[in-house]
Amino acid sequence: MEIREIREHKKRFLALLLLGDEQESMIDRYLERGTMYVLDDGGIRGECVVTDEGNGVLEIKNIAVKPESQGKGYGRAMIEFLVQKYRGRYAALQAGTGDSPLTVPFYETCGFVRAGRIRNYFTDQYDHPIWEGGVRLTDLIYFRRELGEREI
Ligand SMILES: CC(C)(COP(=O)(O)OP(=O)(O)OC[C@H]1O[C@@H](n2cnc3c(N)ncnc32)[C@H](O)[C@@H]1OP(=O)(O)O)[C@@H](O)C(=O)NCCC(=O)NCCS
Repeated sequence: MEIREIREHKKRFLALLLLGDEQESMIDRYLERGTMYVLDDGGIRGECVVTDEGNGVLEIKNIAVKPESQGKGYGRAMIEFLVQKYRGRYAALQAGTGDSPLTVPFYETCGFVRAGRIRNYFTDQYDHPIWEGGVRLTDLIYFRRELGEREI
């Protein structure tokens, strides 16, 4: 298994990006300035995009594992990769997600705790209703995992 950075032509992974964030115009807001990684294990299994949000916060803007490869530890592997890679450089890893039964348990199992909420984010920012796990997403929930002391 290998996780590698993608610097060019990030949109070739658009199908995966749309799995993590279903509106392309929203992806366009962070893809270029974001750092993208793909997880390869005999083929591409997943991707994630992180951005520097200032104040020592690294944010996961997009994370997705192909449907047939979900539940096999690849999502957790990407989180642990980010924690190892950015520990010492950032104070915390942050992720915003809908209040969905499909993603909240994932972040909680991966050691994140709830750290805030933006009310009506999905209803205000997206041009169509977003449904996930039978729930219509409204608020954005922030999850946070501390990365320890910064060395810089
Ligand atoms: C969310 C997602 C990235 C998780 O990746 P994954 O490879 O399936 O997750 P993992 O197999 O690494 O799971 C890690 C842990 O989270 C738990 N978990 C993951 N999804 C869960 C769910 N829906 N309910 C309960 N637990 C869940 C797993 O049980 C596992 O726990 P364990 O290690 O103790 O067994 C993946 O399901 C996905 O791509 N979903 C669609 C896109 C998406 O919603 N992205 C997030 C946008 S914020």
